[in-house]
Amino acid sequence: MKKLLIANFKMNENPSETKLYFTKFVAGFSGERADVIICPSYVSLPLASFLTANSAVKLGAQNVSDEDAGAFTGEVSAKMLKSVGAEYVIVGHSERRNKFKESDKLINKKIKTSLKAGLKCILCVGEGALDKNVGKSQEVIRKQLEEGLRGLYENELESVVIAYEPTWAIGTGNNASVKEVEQAAKVIRKVVYENFSEKASRDIQVIYGGSLNERNAPALLNTPGIDGGLFGGISLDYSAFLNIANSIK
Ligand code: 13P
Repeated sequence: MKKLLIANFKMNENPSETKLYFTKFVAGFSGERADVIICPSYVSLPLASFLTANSAVKLGAQNVSDEDAGAFTGEVSAKMLKSVGAEYVIVGHSERRNKFKESDKLINKKIKTSLKAGLKCILCVGEGALDKNVGKSQEVIRKQLEEGLRGLYENELESVVIAYEPTWAIGTGNNASVKEVEQAAKVIRKVVYENFSEKASRDIQVIYGGSLNERNAPALLNTPGIDGGLFGGISLDYSAFLNIANSIK
């Protein structure tokens, strides 16, 4: 199976920069070795959708409202995201958990609202440095998963990707080791097994994110139990991300 590579632009790249990026990326992407989803800013999604039409590149949003519609100033609904070409949405990113105080309950509601609207979800889970130091990594991952996926039907997991993104590895240059990623993937699949089924635990896509780059991606993405990667900083460099996408095995 091809690896799944997801680019999270975070709050970077305005529409004209996004235009340049997508034009070059789409022209160079072979699609032979990896499935690619790029998540630009909300304001660049319509343009990105136009530029990726008839290409293998898929689009995702970085956030979504937990509500369908109504008096929620500044929010963007899952239906709106679908209507501008997003197929995926990132939910539960540690930056939203920590900087915007998003709870597991809210994340769970966002997932349900998104799935109902036909968006696929990339649910991020992962421990912080403190949790890691006191040996609580597994406990944190389990809680975030159980609460994030609570009440979902097993068949809905086909539209959910789990991203293991330990907070201490994000934007630090300090990526998790292959051993740590393998262990986390095992925990994630075990929790899915216990809460859903053996089949679901086998089939669900689990990816790793946190200081991925051209050098460490091949080993980390080929960790047993890992189906791909979630890229932050390095994905802003179109040639580096393109190189990874065209060469990953
Ligand atoms: P970095 O690749 O910059 O560490 O970011 C990872 C991330 O948060 C992707 O969602």
